[in-house]
Amino acid sequence: VRNGNGVKGLVESAGISQVPDRYIQPPQERINHVSTPQLNLPPIDLSKLHGPHHDQAVAEIAGAAHTLGFFQVVNHGVPLELLEALKSAAHKFFSMPPEEKKAAACRTNVKYGTSFAPEKEQALEWKDYVSMSYTTDEDALQYWPSLCKGVALEYLKLSTKMAREIVGILMENLGAKVDEKKIEGLVGYKMVNMNYYPECPNPELTVGVGRHSDMGTLTILLQDEIGGLYVKLEQDIKCKYASASKGDWIEIPPIPGALVINIGDALQIMSNGRYRSGEHRVRAAREQSRVSVPVFTMPNPTEKIGPLPEVVEKDGKAGYREIVFQDYMNNFFTNAHEGKKSLDFAA
Ligand code: SIN
Ligand code: FE2
Repeated sequence: VRNGNGVKGLVESAGISQVPDRYIQPPQERINHVSTPQLNLPPIDLSKLHGPHHDQAVAEIAGAAHTLGFFQVVNHGVPLELLEALKSAAHKFFSMPPEEKKAAACRTNVKYGTSFAPEKEQALEWKDYVSMSYTTDEDALQYWPSLCKGVALEYLKLSTKMAREIVGILMENLGAKVDEKKIEGLVGYKMVNMNYYPECPNPELTVGVGRHSDMGTLTILLQDEIGGLYVKLEQDIKCKYASASKGDWIEIPPIPGALVINIGDALQIMSNGRYRSGEHRVRAAREQSRVSVPVFTMPNPTEKIGPLPEVVEKDGKAGYREIVFQDYMNNFFTNAHEGKKSLDFAA
């Protein structure tokens, strides 16, 4: 963190009216949110998975995985007070003095940073974050900034449980034979972030996060009510809610109480491309800061990830090579965000 207090420090100290040059994106990366089509996709009611409408919920999840790679869920079992508490914890964390933020990140598995890969980026992202990798939810707690320990553990447990259930459904839907142990291997390594996007004088010139896909299995994301998360359509969509064309960027609008779930590269690879790891980006807001809390579930680093034999058999051809997830991860973190280029590593 350059000035020790990230983009937040920059905004506060300079009282700037124009972002510094190093945050100005090349024209093709800037986010024009005005011409964005609204899809207004309804959230999926996860409680249906445990009742007579189970099959319908499964079809909705699989449908979203095949198209946008993003969907929102409600009745997900995470108490709403917990979600509120997490959002305020994120605000509280970033308003701490810089020394305290740095101190929170003195462990190797906790990182306090700004932008994604500052050394590699042509233009920096308008974002600060604290990030922690972990394997067991209890482990996570001992490293996590103390101001939100109380809420974090329950959230991590519930989100991991949700991820296991949905990964199981998506695997089964591919005709793959999976047991508990296999699923655990696919979500056994996790990372949780608190992201902070300060208010930005020039949201039309910058990006909060540049376009990328997530590298792991499933991401469970809590976003606040500010908005600004966009996903790129890889195919035309026509449904009863709306229509949009390939290449359009669709907003995933804030829905009170909902969580956002998205497919990562590992699932795109395993499904031989059937499931889409959605390319997404975030626009900063002019007047208000935005926070988000994603939990990234990923395969264990030693896990070998490749197209599932059951799927390759049907397709007659594997679209990706087998990779060791640790190698995939190393490649991901040593490059700037560049859309779905991360997947080339498995080509
Ligand atoms: C990300 O995809 O890196 C962040 C998403 C968000 O903040 O909504
Ligand atoms: Fe992401």
